[in-house]
Amino acid sequence: MQAQIKTIKEKAIHEIEKTEDLKILNDLRVKYLGKKGELTLILRGMGALSPEERPIIGSAVNKAKEEVEALIIEKEEKLEQQELNKKLQEETIDITLPSTKIVRGSKHPVNRVIEEIEDLFVSMGYDVEVGPELETDEFCFERLNLPKGHPARDMQDSFYITNEYLLRTQTSSVQARTMLKNTEKTPIRMICAGKTYRREDDATHSHQFSQVEGLVVDYKERNVSLADLKGTLEVFVKRLIGENLDLRFRPSYFPFTEPSYEVDVTCFKCSGKGCPLCKQTGWIEILGAGIVHPNVLRMNGYDPDKFSGFAFGTGLERLAMFKYGITDMRYLYTNDVRFLKQFDRKD
Ligand code: DAH
Repeated sequence: MQAQIKTIKEKAIHEIEKTEDLKILNDLRVKYLGKKGELTLILRGMGALSPEERPIIGSAVNKAKEEVEALIIEKEEKLEQQELNKKLQEETIDITLPSTKIVRGSKHPVNRVIEEIEDLFVSMGYDVEVGPELETDEFCFERLNLPKGHPARDMQDSFYITNEYLLRTQTSSVQARTMLKNTEKTPIRMICAGKTYRREDDATHSHQFSQVEGLVVDYKERNVSLADLKGTLEVFVKRLIGENLDLRFRPSYFPFTEPSYEVDVTCFKCSGKGCPLCKQTGWIEILGAGIVHPNVLRMNGYDPDKFSGFAFGTGLERLAMFKYGITDMRYLYTNDVRFLKQFDRKD
């Protein structure tokens, strides 16, 4: 029996030493020391022994159990420590490693231009107005001296939603809204920037683009004149794009202004020498402008005998192209982040 105890003990020691796994170690504890464990079973079978043998074997089994138990505890501590070390090692934070970069979006060049224009005009005492993109025929055309059936409506191919509603073709619609909203009929200085839509889509046009509109209405005796309009547009274009640019005013036609002008600016690509972009003229058209038509004032509640003013409107994609030297308008619509990110450095 002594020999059997010794064999079991040696087997247990061997297995305990061999294992590197806490779970297996626990199984070994059950296997040797548990209720039905190999050493425990010997104690149970002691009834068959002679009274002389019993204490000897009993103490031998208990000694063996104690030894095995001590060994298991020792191993357990060792394995637990190993596991902890491993965990600590795996979870260390190396503060010298570069952090994961958060990819931030960039402001679109057209929005940059809008913000800059708004800042500039606010500094000159203008208010910033907004109007709906889904507009009525009344505000987009009729109140701007373009009654139904007027041939000048053909200048702007429109997206009609119903007979009355369309996607606004021009931010000029906000002129009428601002005049009507101002029930006190006090002077107006406003700009409005936003999206506009037309039924055209070719190499140089997009069905959605952006415009900024400006309107000044003041008491007649303050003599708001063409000189004021020219001065304002010069400040606008030079501040936004470049002080070295020249402006050229050409007579033109718009139903809501009389007289009306188209305003050209020195070609940014060839500096006025003539190139394919400016069709060899050295100029590029950027603005429509003029003195507010008396009918427009009257229709929107301003007596043309008491008030006069000027208005202007321009496409923002064009201005962004000029400002940043972008030679193809389609870059503004393709949403390539590599393109958009370049402007982060240009403010
Ligand atoms: N709304 C015109 C267009 O889209 C541009 C324009 C011309 C606006 C003359 C004006 C203006 O305010 O006075 O072509």
